[in-house]
Amino acid sequence: MLRNSSTGYGLIAIFFHWTMAILILGMLAFGLYLDGLPQTEQSTFQLYQLHKSIGFVVLALAALRLVWRLFNPAPRLPDGMHPLEKTAAHLGHIGLYVLIFAMPITGWFMVSASPWNIPTIAFNVLPIPHLPVPAALGSQEDAESFFKVLHEYGAFLLIALIVVHVAAALKHHFIARDDTLKRMVSTAPAHSEKQLQETSS
Ligand code: HEM
Ligand code: HEM
Repeated sequence: MLRNSSTGYGLIAIFFHWTMAILILGMLAFGLYLDGLPQTEQSTFQLYQLHKSIGFVVLALAALRLVWRLFNPAPRLPDGMHPLEKTAAHLGHIGLYVLIFAMPITGWFMVSASPWNIPTIAFNVLPIPHLPVPAALGSQEDAESFFKVLHEYGAFLLIALIVVHVAAALKHHFIARDDTLKRMVSTAPAHSEKQLQETSS
């Protein structure tokens, strides 16, 4: 029920997937919205603090999810899938994992490098220290711009990967008509192999 089986995802993986999908989609929209606001307003400052705070929640969840994933392998992909499609699915998932970490980490480096030296206090409660910024990146302005570019291009790359990921999930569901989407929504497919074994014995 909680753990993955060879045929389906358990409750914990499903919880991580959908909680993080909602948070990340929200953060992408939030970041793009923030980019267009007047940077000198106090309300914009508060919204940036909220963006950073939620970003740290995503980072913490990503770390927990990765640990869970390492000790709890994903179910095998549908048998009928072409080997190239399986490789693409694995690479796509690795890319998503990399960006789930890269987005908060580049954001964290960006604010750490900033010459404005604005403190981050997550949800006005938890002070987050600045990260040490490599001197090789030059002045604070140069380092901040470097991480800003990574954060911005990372966001566009993540959006592109999510579009492909969602398209693949919908293709499996509506065209191939297999359990791929169902098993990320419900734990029932995780038990189907067990049930099969039980009925055949
Ligand atoms: C899931 C995590 C995150 C996502 C998806 C995300 C997404 C975004 C996006 C889409 C933008 C707008 C990019 C642009 O068009 O320039 C943005 C801007 C920004 N983000 Fe994040 N972000 C995340 C986490 C963080 C974290 C943890 C921090 C800091 C601790 C942070 C700090 C910033 C800052 C300072 C900007 C404004 C950059 C500028 O001045 O243009 N972000 N973010
Ligand atoms: C920010 C958005 C999303 C991210 C970052 C994301 C990330 C991931 C990752 C990393 C996996 C691999 C499984 C794991 O190890 O946890 C996965 C699996 C999956 N995702 Fe998403 N996902 C997102 C949104 C969505 C949406 C909107 C859908 C549905 C339309 C979806 C459908 C699926 C399905 C069906 C699987 C299971 C694939 C399989 O069985 O191998 N995902 N997702």
